[in-house]
Formats: sequence, C-alpha cells, structure tokens
Amino acid sequence: MFGAIAPTYDFLNHALSLNVDRYWRRMAVRAMEPKPRGLYLDLCTGTGDLACALARRSGARVMGLDFTGPMLDIALKKARRRRREIWWVQADALRLPLRDDCVDGITVAFGVRNFEDLERGLTEAARVLKPGGRLVVLEFSEPQGQLFGPIYRLYFRRLLPRIGALFSRVRGPYGYLAATVQGFPEAAQFAMTMRRNGFAEVRQRPLTGGIATLHVAERDQRKASIAGSGEREKSAAAIQSGISEGA
Ligand SMILES: C[S@@+](CC[C@H](N)C(=O)[O-])C[C@H]1O[C@@H](n2cnc3c(N)ncnc32)[C@H](O)[C@@H]1O
Repeated sequence: MFGAIAPTYDFLNHALSLNVDRYWRRMAVRAMEPKPRGLYLDLCTGTGDLACALARRSGARVMGLDFTGPMLDIALKKARRRRREIWWVQADALRLPLRDDCVDGITVAFGVRNFEDLERGLTEAARVLKPGGRLVVLEFSEPQGQLFGPIYRLYFRRLLPRIGALFSRVRGPYGYLAATVQGFPEAAQFAMTMRRNGFAEVRQRPLTGGIATLHVAERDQRKASIAGSGEREKSAAAIQSGISEGA
C-alpha cells in the first residue's frame, strides 16, 4: 500500500496540510534537541523529510528506516539533492537490525499508528535507545473542539479519502489513514502504553488545534528486557560498522 502512494506522497502531504506538516516536523526536531555527533534513528521514515530535517541540525548522524522500498528510493534521491548524509535502512521497525542501547534518539512521524503491534514497536525502540535516550513521536490525533472537531472529522473521514484517491490514483490508503487515526489511542492512553514499554517522563503537546500531537518520552534508565535481541546481533554489527566507517 505505501509503495503505491510513494510517488504522490510528498505532494499530497504538503498540499492537503497546506504545508503545516513541515512545521510539525520542525517541532519534532526541536523536541529531539539533537546533539552534534549523536546518532539518531528516524523510524518509518517514508520519503525521509524528518530524517533530512534532523540531519540538517547540529551535525547529528542520522539513519532513516522504513520497510517500503519505493518510499526509501525517494528519500535517497531527496537526501542526495539536499546533500544530506543519511544511512537508509530497509527493515521492519518491529525487528530492528540494531544492537541494544546504541542510538541517542528516535523519531517517528505518522508511523506508530501503522504498527501491527504497537507495544512491540515501542519495546523495540526502547531496546535500541541508550538509557535516557529520547523518543519523539509525531502522530495525527482527533481535535476535540466543539466546532472545529466535527468539521475536521467530516473533512478527514469523507473528503480526504476522495481527494487522496483522485491524486494518487489509488483507492484505499487515504480511507485507511482516517480509520487508523480513529483507532489510535488517545494521548493519555498512549502515554500509559509508552510507560508500560520502557519509557518515562512522557510529555505531550497538541499541535494545530489537536490535528496532530507531539509525544516526547525518555527511555527508562532501567534496562528494557526484550527477548530475542541476540538473533539480530549479526545484521546490527554490519550496520554499526558501516556507520562508524562512514562517519
Ligand atoms: C504515513 S508514512 C510516514 C512517512 C514519514 N515519516 C512522514 O513523516 O511523512 C508511514 C510510513 O511508515 C512505514 N511503516 C509502517 N509500518 C512500518 C514498520 N513496521 N516498519 C518499517 N516501516 C513501516 C511505511 O512504509 C510508510 O513509509
């Protein structure tokens, strides 16, 4: 599904949000406070906008990870055009090919909502984050205002799937978008899910009237106990050594 919308993804993102999505990603980078030489992972990177924005700041080293090849192809070209040095990794966020405690921060924009297993995705993120490392999740939410809420829901559930299908020439994904936003836990519930899966100090900030929410959390100082990390050591070692050589 994501492969089919890749060619029109950026255009529709910026057009349908009136470019507000760029501001949201800037807020996500700001919330991350990337450090020079720190290693950052942008999960569900898609066409790489957030990874590129992270790489622009303070010389941070950035990996962009996604399981959809056509999305990563666009990300790669974009990064070359913008002269950003980013490591692109095609992998599943639920089985990260990275060793434990190796990244300083993780960002995910409009990705966790799609996880087949949200808790598994969070424990994987906690596993690869250094203790105290930061997770920044940018995700759609449902605005609650009495006037704005119903108008927005009408747009999001009825109009947007049609506009999306018209421009991308693919039926389905933009209806799926509305359905997954509806099905995603509310902020307080998501905060509890993060706490249960290796995170602490959760802060949340609604953006643009609550259309999106920024969720920021620190990896719990206690070691996250995630089974099965050993089997991923080999590929992790390969990626890690590539990073040290390239850096
Ligand atoms: C809505 S796009 C968001 C892209 C980008 N982060 C942005 O800000 O525009 C969702 C992306 O998540 C990716 N994705 C969903 N589940 C994934 C998973 N389990 N592992 C890796 N990538 C995943 C999809 O391939 C898609 O590129």
